[in-house]
Amino acid sequence: MTEKTLPPTDRPVTLAVLGAGNRGSVYANWAAEHPDRARIVAVAEPRDHHRKTLAERHNIPPERTFTSWKDLVAAGKLADAAIVATQDVDHVEPATALARQGYHLLVEKPMAPTEEDCRALVDAVRQTNVMFAVCHVLRYTPYTRLLKRVLDSGRIGTIMSVQHLEPVGYSHQAHSYVRGNWRREDESSSMLLAKSCHDIDWLRYVVGVPIERVSSFGRLSHFVRANQPAGAAERCLDCSVESSCAYSAKKHYLGMLRRGQTGWPLHVVSNDLTEDGVTRALREGPYGRCVYRCDNDVVDHQVVALEFAGGITGTFTMTAFSEQGHRRTQIFGTQGSIDCDGEKVRLFDFLTDQTEELTVESLGADAGSGHGGGDAGLMDSFTRALATGDPAHINSGALESLETHLAVFAAERARHAGTVEQVVPVPAL
Ligand SMILES: NC(=O)c1ccc[n+]([C@@H]2O[C@H](COP(=O)([O-])OP(=O)(O)OC[C@H]3O[C@@H](n4cnc5c(N)ncnc54)[C@H](O)[C@@H]3O)[C@@H](O)[C@H]2O)c1
Repeated sequence: MTEKTLPPTDRPVTLAVLGAGNRGSVYANWAAEHPDRARIVAVAEPRDHHRKTLAERHNIPPERTFTSWKDLVAAGKLADAAIVATQDVDHVEPATALARQGYHLLVEKPMAPTEEDCRALVDAVRQTNVMFAVCHVLRYTPYTRLLKRVLDSGRIGTIMSVQHLEPVGYSHQAHSYVRGNWRREDESSSMLLAKSCHDIDWLRYVVGVPIERVSSFGRLSHFVRANQPAGAAERCLDCSVESSCAYSAKKHYLGMLRRGQTGWPLHVVSNDLTEDGVTRALREGPYGRCVYRCDNDVVDHQVVALEFAGGITGTFTMTAFSEQGHRRTQIFGTQGSIDCDGEKVRLFDFLTDQTEELTVESLGADAGSGHGGGDAGLMDSFTRALATGDPAHINSGALESLETHLAVFAAERARHAGTVEQVVPVPAL
């Protein structure tokens, strides 16, 4: 079903946003662009600038703006559904409380940093019977829909193996996983959960059967003190070798500003997007630190070997040490193979020895933006599920998401212990 064939509803669905940071704003912006589909009617956010900006954009009255999700919960049910876009450790408590109040839920990934909390959230959601989606946006891209259609059509026969690369990119790694919010496991989660739960989830989705066994290797090798160049300072603004450093915060953030690029990740660094404002943030804030002098501990490269049901094998590589780009995947079947790069799907047919190139259908302006159209696709599906009362529009519900989170936890156990781990099956899928 496309947007054009959405059944008419009496009113747009109403949404409360918890956490008006980067992700909360992305989803809220979708609502602003689709006023016939969704309206943001309440917000909880401690940072004044972010709360006010979102409240103004969506005309939210003061009695529906809160400085913490706890106050929003205490105010009773204010909307059909809530978007939980707080930090990783702050998903389960608000989501559980909101589910008990009857809110349908869109919850950012990861559901929670621990297996126990993921299970607790899924239990709460199932007991309350609310609609629930995890923001596994890659499942909702036009590209994934195209790939899935090709695989489901049987064009490459039975899938035997798959290899998948997530080239995080040197600058994205430095921003988010060395200097930024996801640099420490104790404050957020492992790299595999924070970044690549999307990939493990996506692989399971496109292969179409559960992951049964995993092993994994990976470590933090480069972004450590021992690799700090001679003459380097604690901050890039004071550094005598800054101009020869690929990871220079000056090069990255002031460079963006000077090129007139004020979007992500620059807007995470400072609300004041002037030369003075960004320079001050680099002088005082976390994003001006030398990448070799941070308090990071998450891995900068990792592989996971996977065995799916039926003996299908897979490998996944996450690396910081790349140009930032689309994920790349090869899928090997008994009748053909597929090589795909987030935009194009190249299919080689063993019978004809011909290669066919399939391109992503356009969903208009949304198709190329926000995770390849996944952010918009997710909002479209979630609000459609709410409007029609049909949870089948959601591709990343509680059990599907729990299953792939459990595969990530198993891979992390394997990496730490040097073992091959069974992935605990999720019943009733
Ligand atoms: N689906 C994806 O592709 C994707 C991409 C990036 C991040 N994420 C996930 O989205 C979540 C949010 O990430 P982000 O990049 O938007 O981070 P962010 O820091 O920009 O946003 C989180 C917001 O929560 C607010 N907050 C803190 N305490 C709060 C409270 N008590 N009540 C209400 N709000 C509170 C913070 O002030 C902040 O504005 C994280 O779990 C992250 O892992 C998902």
